[in-house]
Amino acid sequence: MNKKMSISSIKKTKNVRPLVMITAYDALFARLFQESADIILVGDSLNMSFAGRSDTLSATMDQMLYHVNAVCRGAQNSFVICDMPFGTYADKETALKNSIRVFQESPADCVKIEGGEDKAEIIKHLTSNGIAVCGHIGLLPQSVRSEGGYKVKGRTQEEQLQLIKDARAVEEAGAFCMVIEGVVAEVASEVANSVAIPVVGIGAGANVDGQVLVFSDMLGLFEEFTPKFVKKYLDGATLVREALKSYSDEVQSREFPQEIHTY
Ligand code: KIV
Repeated sequence: MNKKMSISSIKKTKNVRPLVMITAYDALFARLFQESADIILVGDSLNMSFAGRSDTLSATMDQMLYHVNAVCRGAQNSFVICDMPFGTYADKETALKNSIRVFQESPADCVKIEGGEDKAEIIKHLTSNGIAVCGHIGLLPQSVRSEGGYKVKGRTQEEQLQLIKDARAVEEAGAFCMVIEGVVAEVASEVANSVAIPVVGIGAGANVDGQVLVFSDMLGLFEEFTPKFVKKYLDGATLVREALKSYSDEVQSREFPQEIHTY
């Protein structure tokens, strides 16, 4: 297996160059992304943009394993993160049992867990049992219902101090990198500077150790809502609609199929 990134090469990017992370949910897109992305994240955001649900909470282990295997088949040279769904790492033993499933039932390289200081013991239990862990601090989409919405973090001094404590706890527990989501840019930068492992931002400004975006957001395919931090690199929805309209018009006018498409 010749993966272009490993845990150690990911760690070595700290203070050298920003990491490029992107989500993918299937082999088709993963194959397209592997050339330019360092890391592919099979995020539980698939529950929203792929499965059409209103939040990530109902994603399951079986669902994640199906998608992570598809992504690994499509991007065989990529470092792949499997997001652990809500409820699958609520305590140490549940977390280990489900993470072992990821390693035994897919070629994913690590798991990702939402939470900071409060999840440190669980992360430690996983890392000391041979499971590589990517942390996720700041705005935690799996806490959307308990927090009453998606709330940007780091606006108060208490939150700033907690974020630094979270990052240090995740690092000390043995995580090799972490995602920081929805955090005031200046604070996210301070958090990144307070640990020795890469801190990859989403909605956390430019001064962190890399960026991650949800592919359906950055390709302009997901139209339900667009968070402020998303840059659309493609107007995918318009392109797809136009292509389908042309197909529909040509089928109806019998312009398609032509001789070259016919046996
Ligand atoms: O599920 C996901 O796609 C994520 C990103 C938002 C980082 O966790």
